[in-house]
Amino acid sequence: MTKLSCTIVGGTGYTGGELLRILNTHPDACVTQVTSRSRMGEYAHTVHPNLRSTPAGNLQFVRPDDVARSDVAFLCLPHGEASTQIERWAGLADTVIDLSADFRLRDHAAYSRWYGSAHPAPQWLDKFVYGLPELTRQQLKGARYASGVGCNATATNLALMPLVKAGLLDTRMPIISDAKVGSSEAGAEATDASHHPERSGAVRSYAPAGHRHAAEVEQMIGMLGGAAAPLHMSATSIEMVRGVLATVHCFVKEPVQDKALWKAFRDCYQGEPFVRIVKSSTGIYRAPEPKILSGSNYADVGFAVSNDGRKVTLLCAIDNLVKGAAGSAVQCLNVMHGFDERAGLEFTGLHP
Ligand SMILES: NC(=O)c1ccc[n+]([C@@H]2O[C@H](COP(=O)([O-])OP(=O)(O)OC[C@H]3O[C@@H](n4cnc5c(N)ncnc54)[C@H](OP(=O)(O)O)[C@@H]3O)[C@@H](O)[C@H]2O)c1
Repeated sequence: MTKLSCTIVGGTGYTGGELLRILNTHPDACVTQVTSRSRMGEYAHTVHPNLRSTPAGNLQFVRPDDVARSDVAFLCLPHGEASTQIERWAGLADTVIDLSADFRLRDHAAYSRWYGSAHPAPQWLDKFVYGLPELTRQQLKGARYASGVGCNATATNLALMPLVKAGLLDTRMPIISDAKVGSSEAGAEATDASHHPERSGAVRSYAPAGHRHAAEVEQMIGMLGGAAAPLHMSATSIEMVRGVLATVHCFVKEPVQDKALWKAFRDCYQGEPFVRIVKSSTGIYRAPEPKILSGSNYADVGFAVSNDGRKVTLLCAIDNLVKGAAGSAVQCLNVMHGFDERAGLEFTGLHP
């Protein structure tokens, strides 16, 4: 069978680099074009040295204007670009997967509220399926357009989904998610904040309140028919290059013990190829931890219950660039095209 041809738009960035790496080993898709305005003509491996001597690494960057038709376009552009360029990319590929926040929210009003301006292409919002297969697998099957996911939203969503589905949450009480995040979340472009003496060793509360990814968590709760609960989300940059650990504090209607939560988590994630329940009473890695997920598409989820059984702490660890971006995008491609959902995504991460 001929492989699907894929274009990576924004291939010098971190998510673009991860797509090149992942698609290198995909049995049913391969990258045929990769764009950059700043590194045009250079080999992809000059920007992503891990790709030396690989098919994707030996591609040369082309200008976005010079892209030819392909089966799939992955858009890895800064916020606000995909929504102004969507007509063009949809004309150049049958399948478009956009990794930015531009097409994640179904509700125009929610987009304006969270992103501070009206959506530039609101007529496209309904055409995109939210790209989290654990939530929208059925809608993704056969779809032409999928959005990406927010990495902190994904960690929060995967932590919370079992309780929302099981109807266990006390929705009068707040849900509070704090995400600890690595520096690659900010993308490849250097800034004052990413300068090594400033960033190294930081514990920087960069979004102490009102993190935008809360919009995707509210959307998830609504999609599952859950009642709206007051939701607070914050993010803290820590000493880590890749990874997100979401710690979500919430309250349940009736006191629960571990057994009920094991059931909710197993019911929710049974058969999911990339979600693992991590809760051990011994060992170093008793709870989800991003360190061992570097480069992998796994999301590790876990939980703990307070002594009175009313307060539950949920945990989810992911690699922001993989399950939080490029890996989820490839997982979506697999579902959209009926491939094995694990194709290209078998890498387990590293230990130590
Ligand atoms: N980093 C993460 O953890 C993460 C996780 C989930 C989602 N996302 C989202 O995914 C998207 C990409 O993130 P990233 O971290 O990969 O960003 P990045 O490292 O900053 O890369 C952005 C890429 O876009 C290209 N580009 C910039 N402006 C462009 C334009 N107007 N037209 C065409 N190409 C343009 C850049 O290359 P040239 O300037 O050379 O063309 C570069 O290759 C963002 O919207 C981000 O919010 C990121």
